[in-house]
Amino acid sequence: MTETTLRVSKIKNGTVIDHITGGHALDVAKILGITGKKRKVITIAINVPSGRFGFKDILKIEGRELNPEEVDKIALLAPHATINIIRNYQVVEKKRVKLPQVIHNIVKCANPACITNTDEPVESKFYVENEDPLRLKCHYCGYIMEKQEVLQQF
Ligand code: CTP
Ligand code: ZN
Repeated sequence: MTETTLRVSKIKNGTVIDHITGGHALDVAKILGITGKKRKVITIAINVPSGRFGFKDILKIEGRELNPEEVDKIALLAPHATINIIRNYQVVEKKRVKLPQVIHNIVKCANPACITNTDEPVESKFYVENEDPLRLKCHYCGYIMEKQEVLQQF
């Protein structure tokens, strides 16, 4: 290790979310309900240099694995993220997040007049028109949601 390098500790068991779009680690932490108030080791690196995308964020969570809904939410904000499952210090599984072409229920339509926002219980449904920058189109009213409006819901 040189004086200009700080190596962040490996974790023993848990999840490393790597290659998060620079600046979004805290949004990902929020999606996962991470408040820092529990006695769990959480490591967050923001805007660290990364070969592939210029800058990236990393979030390491000791003692926790993610469910599919959490992974889909992360994919909305960080389409290049990789989820590494760590067991006994080894990466036992590595997968890239993947946005489905159609998204059910994870995001609410921001158009107040949309049928999904009336008292009738209709599940929201969006088509992913573009991943990065994010563009979601509501199946019911055609409203276009971008990342900022999605973020406000998380
Ligand atoms: N990691 C960790 N603790 C471990 C093992 C790995 O925190 N016990 C972290 C690494 O620091 C890295 C990520 O998990 O940020 C993925 O590890 P690895 O696959 O070994 O790294 P790379 O080959 O660089 O991953 P990629 O090819 O996805 O960039
Ligand atoms: Zn709508």
